[in-house]
Order: sequence, then C-alpha cells, then structure tokens
Amino acid sequence: MLEAITPPAPDKIIQLIQMFREDPREQKIDLGVGVYKNASGITPVMEAVKEAEMRLWNSQLTKTYTSLVGEVSYHDAMIKLILNDTVARDRIAAAHTPGGTGAVRMAFETIKMASPDSTFWISNPSWPNHKSILGFIGMNMREYSYFDSASRSTDFSGMMTDLQDAREGDAIVLHGCCHNPTGSDLSYSQWEELAEFLQARKIIPIIDFAYQGFGDGLEEDAKALRMIASKFPETLIAGSCSKNFGLYRDRVGILLVVNQDDKIKGNIQNVLASLNRLSISFPPDHGGSLVTIILNDDELSVLWKDELEATRKNLLDLRVKLAAELRDLTGSDRFGFLASHKGMFSLTGCTPEQVLTMQEKHGIYLVGDSRINVAGLNEEKIPYMAKAMVDAGM
Ligand code: LMR
Repeated sequence: MLEAITPPAPDKIIQLIQMFREDPREQKIDLGVGVYKNASGITPVMEAVKEAEMRLWNSQLTKTYTSLVGEVSYHDAMIKLILNDTVARDRIAAAHTPGGTGAVRMAFETIKMASPDSTFWISNPSWPNHKSILGFIGMNMREYSYFDSASRSTDFSGMMTDLQDAREGDAIVLHGCCHNPTGSDLSYSQWEELAEFLQARKIIPIIDFAYQGFGDGLEEDAKALRMIASKFPETLIAGSCSKNFGLYRDRVGILLVVNQDDKIKGNIQNVLASLNRLSISFPPDHGGSLVTIILNDDELSVLWKDELEATRKNLLDLRVKLAAELRDLTGSDRFGFLASHKGMFSLTGCTPEQVLTMQEKHGIYLVGDSRINVAGLNEEKIPYMAKAMVDAGM
C-alpha cells in the first residue's frame, strides 16, 4: 500500500545542507540554511543559555509533562518580549510550539478551522515552507508581489496592487522583520499604509516573527508587529527562539493569537491546546524554560541582549564589508543593496546558472532562488566570495 505515496519534492534549503556536507573542498562556504555562525564558523551556545542551563539543572525537580500549551510563565515572558504591553494580556491566547515552524503550522490550522475557504496571501517570494504547509493542509493561496529584482528592494506598489484582489476573511502572511528570503523589509510608513488597507478589507494578519533582534534591534524589529497587533481585532503571531536565543534544535516557538475579547480568547486557548494534543500532545519544555529563566532575570537578560546585539552587529558588519569589497572590485555600486538589507538573508537576484557556478566552481552554496545567508561569511572569506560573485557574472 505505501508504495502509492509519491514522496514530496525535497525542500531546497534542507537539500542544500546535505550537499554542503558531502562537498570535500576545504574552501567551501555554506550560505544556505538560516543558521547564525560566528567568525570561526561555529553556531555557539549563548553564554546566557549556558548559565540558564546550569540553573535549570540545579533547580528542576521533575521532567513530567508540562500543560498542552506549555508553561504560562513562558507565554508571559514571550508576550512581553514580542508585544510588550501593546495588547491587553487577557486578549492573548498562547501555545508553546516546537519551533517557529510549529507556530506557523498552528496559525494556518487555526484559520482553517475558522474559515476553510479563506485564501492565504503569501509574499512572492517567501520562505518555501509557507507554501508547502498550506499546500499540505489543503488551503487556497495566492501570491502578492514583494520584491523588485532590479533594485533588490521591496516592490510596495506591486504588493498593494496585487492585494486589491484580497477579500474579507482572507489571511495574509507577513514577515515581521528581516524578510526571508529577500532581506528587504517594508518601511514603517509602508507598514502603516498596509495596516490601514488590511483593516478596511477585514483581512487577518499572520505575522511570522522568526528574527526579532537580527534587524534593527529587539524593540525596533517589533515596532510594526506591535502597531498591527494593537490596531486589529485579531492577529496571529508565530514567534521563534531558534535564532535570537540560538536554540535551534531545542525547538522553542510560540503561537500568540490576539483575540477580539477575553471570552473568544478562552475558546481559542482551548483550540490551541487541542491542536497540540492532536499533533504532538505535549510541547517540549527544556528550551522554553531556559528562555523563561533568562527573560525573568535582570543579569541574564542583559547578558543575552549583549550577545544578541553582538550577533546583529556582526551581520551588519559583514554586509557592509561585502558590499564595499564588491564596490572596489566592480567599480560600481550595484551590490549596495547588501548593506541595506536586514537580518541574515539577501536575495542576490543572480540566475540559477550563476548559483550553480558558485557551487560547482567555487564551492559556495546559495539557495537556488539566489538567497545568501551572510552569517556564513567572515572577514577572511569576503574577498574570495566577492571574486567568485564577479567571476560567476553576478
Ligand atoms: C531558513 O529559512 O533557512 C530557516 O528558516 C531554516 C529553515 O527551516 O528553513
């Protein structure tokens, strides 16, 4: 019977991890999966996390199940981090999910339960898993323009034109900051214009918020999201601690659903519990406990924020240096966009053939859509990378 299943096409980001591992060349560079690496190419466990692990080890008395939605102390700490006090706590339902992806999946399932005929609007391009998950759960989806490949910046007017077709009850997936894969974010005034339009049309926002702290800073990155959550009757937010706490493999995510009132919130809280029960039963706890310890301790919070800020600055520094190296090499500013994009990713706009040349000739692995993860670089690798880009005709 099982031979009847056709395996789905492999996710291009996941496929690249394997190809990179199998490449024996020493000078190879991994610019694929969205994982932060320091100058030595290591994805370190943050000091604040190590300290929290010690404290947890010393204090934890049981590994029995947490609740179906995880610990309320984790919800409270994450709500403060993501929304601060912009929305009344009694309007927010929350569930600890396995990673940000778990939260995205749960957000989509929640909309499906409320309105199975809704259309989900996804940016073109977007993180490939958005489309894969929606396809898998059988939802309608449409794409809205997002990126102008000539200027390598956001195509806001194209976006607004496409969204004219959106109808009341549709949902829109937005990237709260550090758009994946383009690296190009909306300006705050564009966010405001978009919010006004979506509100008038009664379109429900789902905000994928996987990179808080990697763009302009922890508070700045949350500004647009907080504005939306404070204005809309309903907003779904998929948060993640994979990147900003470096807790990738511990799968620490959260779905926040901002509801119209506390009564609906009570029902939705039960819906989220049942969605966890039906897929994973109880969520993992270890990483969430670490985050709670850090966010509730002044000293550890300061340490974590300093580490996160150093990470953000390193990414920015790499961007500026790569753009400068390419300016020197080409005598043009056509790679200037690298310095203004936010977070780990930039969509370079190179062709699939150029992506292949980078890989085959230079051992540099980009995602097929031309996305680079700048964290895969360091100061020594930048001249090699820049030369390879020019050699590949980018
Ligand atoms: C990425 O886009 O590389 C990350 O979000 C990791 C993933 O799961 O794809």
